[in-house]
Amino acid sequence: MVFTLHLTQEEEQVLDGEKGEFLSKCMKVLVRLGDVLGAEKLVSIKRAHISGVSIMTAGEELALLLEEAINEGATVCVRTTTNPCAIELEKWKELGIRSEFVDRQKRVLDKIKAVGMKLSLSCTPYYKDNVPEFGEIIAFAESSAVIYANSILGAKTLRHGSIDALAAAFIGKVPLADVLIDENRAPEVFVDVKHDLKTTTEYGLLGFLLGELLDEIPIIQFKRKPKHYELKQMGAAMATSGKHAIYHVIEVTPEWSKWKNMIHSLEKIIIDKKDLIGIAERFGVSENPEFVVIGCPHAHPDELKDINLEAKKWLFCGRSMLNEIKNVARNFDMILADTCPVVMPLAELGINEVATNSVKAAWYIPKLSKNKVKTKLVFI
Ligand code: F3S
Repeated sequence: MVFTLHLTQEEEQVLDGEKGEFLSKCMKVLVRLGDVLGAEKLVSIKRAHISGVSIMTAGEELALLLEEAINEGATVCVRTTTNPCAIELEKWKELGIRSEFVDRQKRVLDKIKAVGMKLSLSCTPYYKDNVPEFGEIIAFAESSAVIYANSILGAKTLRHGSIDALAAAFIGKVPLADVLIDENRAPEVFVDVKHDLKTTTEYGLLGFLLGELLDEIPIIQFKRKPKHYELKQMGAAMATSGKHAIYHVIEVTPEWSKWKNMIHSLEKIIIDKKDLIGIAERFGVSENPEFVVIGCPHAHPDELKDINLEAKKWLFCGRSMLNEIKNVARNFDMILADTCPVVMPLAELGINEVATNSVKAAWYIPKLSKNKVKTKLVFI
């Protein structure tokens, strides 16, 4: 491997352990990432968002790392928010979650708080808790938040994993590479969606299909202007089946016009209804579901107005959005903050079958529950 990354004297000192062993470890993570990506230098970030908080995923490993930071008095140096955890902090008793499980999760949350992170416990920090500006360099983990921040907000973030986002939060820098550089954000393939998508579920199916089909950055043309929450579903699914960190939508996303003149020279792909039906059949569709989970990624009030299903319905959102959500989400059986349908212990609560409009949730719920919770799609 050719090492291309040059560190400043101050960065070298951190790497050499002059600011403590933990920060040295963080710097090593960033240097390694920088070398893999071929970066020449580190650049400052304005904010970070970390994943792997739930004890159903990597929460306890995260706590062990943070213990090292706490022992050395290290704290994050930029605003840093956190993904959902495994429990609803106010409703866990009502839900029937065991107190030992709650204590385990709370021990992780205490450590996160002790290093200065905000316990936002939401995968949509961009709504309120940690809102990136256009052009700002940030370090987000959580693939659905990465693709939203890059594509819809025009912020610049690598597709971080939980460890390198954590390292970036403590060092306040990331390697300058990949989609942080303008020319690497250019579209590489033109996608013409011929089918008029009517539901958020269809946007998710499209995203999943594009993630599987393409390695390139797509610029997409729709029959009508999609809403922000429809694109949220599409991006979350695209980042589930693919490695994408960005896409563009003609007449919608903030950077699309920069590439206007090159669109005609790109390879063209046409997507039709039958392509989406093929993906839906792989997941399975429920016509009359008994139990529906909505809010993967965490919900925005705009997406809830037209939901009229007979089924029992649980809604997931960030706690900071709870008031706005409650104003519009009147016909839900449960509104849950802090957690999500994928990283909470649904099976332990006796739930073994759900339907969802989220293709990302339909992909991950069976996997994380070890197939104890069967999941189908519902068109909403
Ligand atoms: Fe968010 Fe959980 Fe889905 S973190 S994107 S609601 S899997």
